[in-house]
Order: sequence, then C-alpha cells, then structure tokens
Amino acid sequence: MAADPTRTPSGAPDETNGSPTQVARTGFLRRFWEWLPARVDRRVIAAAWATLAVQVGIVGTGGLVRLTGSGLGCPTWPRCTDGSFVPTPEMGIHGVIEFGNRTLTFVLVVVAILMFLFVVRMRRRRRDLFWLSLVIGLYVPLQAIIGGITVLTNLNPYVVGLHYFASVVLVSLATVLVARVYAAPGPRVRAVPRWFALLAHLTSALVLITVVVGILVTGSGPHAGDGGAARNGLDPEFMQHVHSWPAYALLALTLVLVAASWRTDPALRLRLWTGLLLAVEAAQIVVGLWQARTGLPIVLVNVHMVLAVLLVAAMTAVVMHLTASAGVVQEDPAYAGSVHAAPAGR
Ligand code: HEM
Repeated sequence: MAADPTRTPSGAPDETNGSPTQVARTGFLRRFWEWLPARVDRRVIAAAWATLAVQVGIVGTGGLVRLTGSGLGCPTWPRCTDGSFVPTPEMGIHGVIEFGNRTLTFVLVVVAILMFLFVVRMRRRRRDLFWLSLVIGLYVPLQAIIGGITVLTNLNPYVVGLHYFASVVLVSLATVLVARVYAAPGPRVRAVPRWFALLAHLTSALVLITVVVGILVTGSGPHAGDGGAARNGLDPEFMQHVHSWPAYALLALTLVLVAASWRTDPALRLRLWTGLLLAVEAAQIVVGLWQARTGLPIVLVNVHMVLAVLLVAAMTAVVMHLTASAGVVQEDPAYAGSVHAAPAGR
C-alpha cells in the first residue's frame, strides 16, 4: 500500500508538511499544473480559435443591441436598473437584448482565463503567447468598462465608436494569437521582398482608415442605439461617400496584393490569406452599397459590422505571414530567394 504523505512513519500526523487539507490542496494544484499544456497542443489551438470566435461574436451581438435600439435597454451600469442587476419584465425585449450582450461578456472572460491558463506553463518558451493572452485577458474588462461608459454617457456616438474600435483591436490581437499558435517559437525574419511588405502595410493602413471613417458614418446615421441618443452632427450622406473612397482604394490595392502574392514563396501561404482578404472585402463592399441604397436595414448593417472585423482579421493574417521563423528559413532552401535579414521581433 502506498505511504500516506500526511503522516509520519509512526502514523502520527506530519505537522511539518502542513495539514491534510493543505497537502491535498497542494497535490491537487500540482496535478492541475501538470495537466496544463507544456507546449502548443490541441487545447491551446482550440482556445486560441475560441478567443477569436467570441471576440467576433460579441461584435455581432453588440451590433444587435445598437440596431434594435436596445442600447439603453438596461439604463444603467454595472446594474441593469438602479434596483436590479437583471432586467425586469416591464423592460421588455430591449432589456433582454442588452442584458444578453452583457452576459456574453462572462463567456469572453471564461475563454480569456482558459487561454491564459493554457499558456502559463510554457511562458518562458512562448513569451509571445503568454503576453498576447495576458493582454487580451486584461483588455476584456477594459472593453466592458468602455461599454459601461457608453451607457453612462447616454450612447455618445464617439464613445460608442471607441467601444467598436476597441473590439476591432481585440479581434486583431486574437488573430495574431491564432497565427502564433501555429508558428515556430523564436525570432522571425521578413520572408517577402521589401516592396511586398510595404504594399501589405499600405493596404492595412487603408483598412484602418476605412474602418475609422465607417465608425464616423455610423455616428451620423440613424442607428444611434436609442431614440434619444445624440448624433455626431456630420452629414450622413456625404460621410457615406467619404467612407466608400478608401474602401475602393483598398479593393484596388488588395487586387494588386493578390496578384503580387504569386511572386512570394508558396510556403508562406500568402495566396490563401490575400485571397481571403479579397473575398471578405468584396462581400463587405456589396453589403455596404446594398445597405446604403435600401435605407440601412438592421440585418445588413449588422452583417456589415461583423464583416468589418472579419476583414481586419484577414488583413492581420496577411501581415502575420510576411515573416517566418528564422530557424525554418535557414533550413528551408525554398525561402532562399525571398528572405531578408531584417529581424521582425519575436
Ligand atoms: C472594405 C470596405 C468597407 C469597410 C471595411 C467598412 C467598414 C465599416 C465600418 C467599420 C462601419 C462602422 C460600423 C459601426 O460602427 O457599427 C461602417 C459603416 C457603414 N458603412 Fe462601411 N465599410 C466598407 C465599405 C462600405 C461601402 C462601399 C459602403 C457604401 C457606401 C459602406 C457603407 C456604410 C454605411 C452606410 C455605414 C453606416 C451604417 C450605420 O449607419 O450604422 N461601407 N463600415
């Protein structure tokens, strides 16, 4: 029979090793620690994808809150009403939608904690994954606070815009995380010609401009989130045009990027990522034009909001594949023609 670690050989309780409960707790913690992944495995990959999925998902449900005019469905924050944490029946469907979106934040928190736990054991070897998970994890409560401020400022369009933009950044970070779980650890080097990297960065600058102007169009438009909420005072029709110009420039540059990707190494899979970017962009432009010509129906606007963050994810994926692990590059002669020694960080 195995010796009881909580007792001395004479059978008396071992005072020096702590109480039996303490020993059991330490044993449980040790087993839990050993159960955590020591290197990237399926659990880590699944958690990274879940991080990206929930960040995209909450943009969809957050959009629903604004578009159904439920932004003040729960009129205060962090409580739903002054007297209750949950909506009351007389608040109707708006209260349920707004409260549902708030509740989804907890799903985000659980996924963020799991992601962090799944990389904490490999924090020395995979500092990139550790820091990304930590930043995303800390960003979630920050985003919840910005969401609270949108309610407390009566849905000020700039605060609502900031709330959306914070999600854009989160989706981008989550995409970096997904790309990194598949990447080899260690230093990375640029694996495409300088002109291609420049073209890709220029394209991502246009994505940023299009998204920011899109947010300003929304702030001027009819979907304020609540009947009484203020608008930013810009002319919505003129702003729609201003928003579509960088969108068309983006499409043109993406077409060049797709064509140019045939001159990069197939191992980087840039044809796939630029092709995906082009597909999402084409869909986004069709939806953008369609919604603008049909009086901004909420379903299309919601799709436009979600496609925008998917587009940001696709753009981030392109940028993440401009570099390759220095180790892989040295060993693989396929990269020989395209590798450039500039270090691109870890
Ligand atoms: C790749 C191209 C595009 C991107 C990345 C993009 C992105 C965005 C974003 C991020 C928003 C703000 C969402 C929000 O704050 O809730 C927005 C709003 C809007 N976009 Fe686009 N957009 C694109 C193309 C277009 C095009 C071509 C049109 C056609 C004119 C268009 C029309 C609109 C309109 C009307 C709104 C305001 C909707 C509202 O009032 O809520 N978009 N877009």
